[in-house]
Amino acid sequence: RLWLKYDYISHLEQRASYSQQLSHWHVAGNSSTDKVIRQELTYAFSSMLGNQAVDSQQGDASLLVANLAELPEALRNNATDGKEFKTDEDYLIYGFSENGQKKVLITGKTDVATLYGTYHLLRLVQTRQSIVSLNIFSSPKISVRVLNHWDNLDRHVERGYAGQSIWDWHKLPELIYQRYHDYARANASVGINGTVLNNVNADPLILTPQYLEKVKALAEVFRSYGMKVYLSVKFSSPQLIGGLETSDPTKPEVLAWWKQKSKEIYAEIPDFGGFLVKANSEGQPGPGDFGRTHAQGANMLAEALAPHGGIVMWRAFVYANEKNEERSKQAYSEFKPLDGKFLPNVLVQVKNGPIDFQPREPISPLFGATPNTPLMMEFQITQEYLGFSTHNVYLGPMYKEVLSTDTYAKGKGSTVAKVVDGSLFQNNISGMAGVSNIGSDRNWTGNVLLQSNWYAFGRLAWDHELSSEEIAQEWTQMTLTQNTQAVDKIVNLLMSSRETTVNYMTPLGLHHIMDEGHHYGPGPWIKDLGREDWTSVYYHKADEQGIGFDRSPSGVNAVAQYHEPLRSRLADPSTTPEEFLLWFHHLPWDYSIKSSGRSLWNELVHRYYQGASEVEEMAKQWSELQPWIDPLLFAQQTMVFNIHQQEAKWWRDACVSYFQSFAKRPLPDGLTPPA
Ligand code: GCU
Repeated sequence: RLWLKYDYISHLEQRASYSQQLSHWHVAGNSSTDKVIRQELTYAFSSMLGNQAVDSQQGDASLLVANLAELPEALRNNATDGKEFKTDEDYLIYGFSENGQKKVLITGKTDVATLYGTYHLLRLVQTRQSIVSLNIFSSPKISVRVLNHWDNLDRHVERGYAGQSIWDWHKLPELIYQRYHDYARANASVGINGTVLNNVNADPLILTPQYLEKVKALAEVFRSYGMKVYLSVKFSSPQLIGGLETSDPTKPEVLAWWKQKSKEIYAEIPDFGGFLVKANSEGQPGPGDFGRTHAQGANMLAEALAPHGGIVMWRAFVYANEKNEERSKQAYSEFKPLDGKFLPNVLVQVKNGPIDFQPREPISPLFGATPNTPLMMEFQITQEYLGFSTHNVYLGPMYKEVLSTDTYAKGKGSTVAKVVDGSLFQNNISGMAGVSNIGSDRNWTGNVLLQSNWYAFGRLAWDHELSSEEIAQEWTQMTLTQNTQAVDKIVNLLMSSRETTVNYMTPLGLHHIMDEGHHYGPGPWIKDLGREDWTSVYYHKADEQGIGFDRSPSGVNAVAQYHEPLRSRLADPSTTPEEFLLWFHHLPWDYSIKSSGRSLWNELVHRYYQGASEVEEMAKQWSELQPWIDPLLFAQQTMVFNIHQQEAKWWRDACVSYFQSFAKRPLPDGLTPPA
């Protein structure tokens, strides 16, 4: 049930007051989306109010859900006065009085807008807020808000830690699980409006008629919830499934193949969203195989999709060991010169940091570097580098940290959020993608607390100005408990969890020191893999003198890719934020840490110990929540916390011992060495 649990309102007066306001509702239209709204209201009100609300006639209704065209003119004029509905998704929740009765109207240009408004109202009731005299107008800040499923056609999920893929390709298109509806409900309730069904390491079979009919079946479920379907495509599909001899984007027969394929898709799925492409990255084929640029590759697909209104999301996650350029610099080097060369229906999808979804990374320098190319944010919701689904990490603060970072691209205040939402450079299209943590586990995400990351991603994609704390609060109240004391405790626990994880995994700007391949657990000793940029020693560079990667002008000069004053700030260890110190600098073990006065060695050890003891504290706080949490959920989560505690110590002990072999210094006073 996720956060759509709709707890019964046990407080009598509170229930009576909501009941009075919501007892007679009416949904004006009869589209499939309107049916979804009716179902949701029936379910929500019967759960929360105990069957007291009924679907009634428009005139009697105290809650009316209707799109703008369905409204009587006078009401429409009053309600919309001074409001500009910019998109088909904007909604208005408007309280008014009629014949002495207090009423609520939910409206927008489309039925999907009213669905979003409905979920907003239900969220207010779920979080026990007042619904009297509402005047809420909401417009999404970002237009394309999608999940990326790294799901393979055999149901294995790459970097998935919640069981198999929820898409049962074998039984589609006939068998439509209720779960597909629940998935779409959950997404719509947080404003996610699209999903890329398959892995970026794409199987070309997805574009065969046999699979397209399965894709169509899912698209038909999702349509009523305002969700479009997109597909990851393999660039060499024309050769692999089309029988062509080349996939060179400049060859007319290749373009013709993609045009024909797009036509075929749109004939079946008229609102198909478009393609996501991983090209010339980690062994995937791409335009580079034919001496062509990423822009040439993306534009060919864009041309094929444009007549149907589709878009291309072209990933900038490109790096190669052979390139003779430091990994964190490569995406910028490759894409910056292509700025302005992409067709209008192309978005370049950029991971938040320049390496790969680490517990903490500085922003990718591409943000702010391409005024003429819309950049789409790619966040990871699944915890590839953050302890899979056995570490309790709420990622809201991380998403916010990235979005609120200033790129200085057009002076102060040029935040990543403004680059991504298109407002900084007036792009006509904007997007945010989250690599999904969803699987077929009963609790969806392998660990109930991690549902909050799916939730937070959606809420921030709609409105990046929300605080991660208010999102955590809503989610907790809707999902776990209504007890305010318990909610506060859980929110505290969630809010500190990401910093805690950074502390016991990769403090002070360390990165990519996880064990090799699976990325679970510590592996700072990983070397000799045959490719340097997959080893850990390449990233931490610990030696007897010190530790850290010199990306300043005296080293690989990655800082040059950032705008001033960020560039100069990051070039100098004394002005580099401490959380990025070892990302940008190789520093002596006795380097003095400004905030604490400790030596670098002592600070590093201190952080590892602090992180591990914070997890113990989290587990303790969780144990005190028993009276307010569902018993089964409480017991399961307690077991997860046990694993989490052990593994935070594992991280601490492995890293401290390993780095001590270089630092050759004792542990600071008061800390006991690892057993
Ligand atoms: C990481 C991850 C891969 C994934 C890749 C990508 O490297 O480990 O599994 O395919 O990112 O984002 O394409």
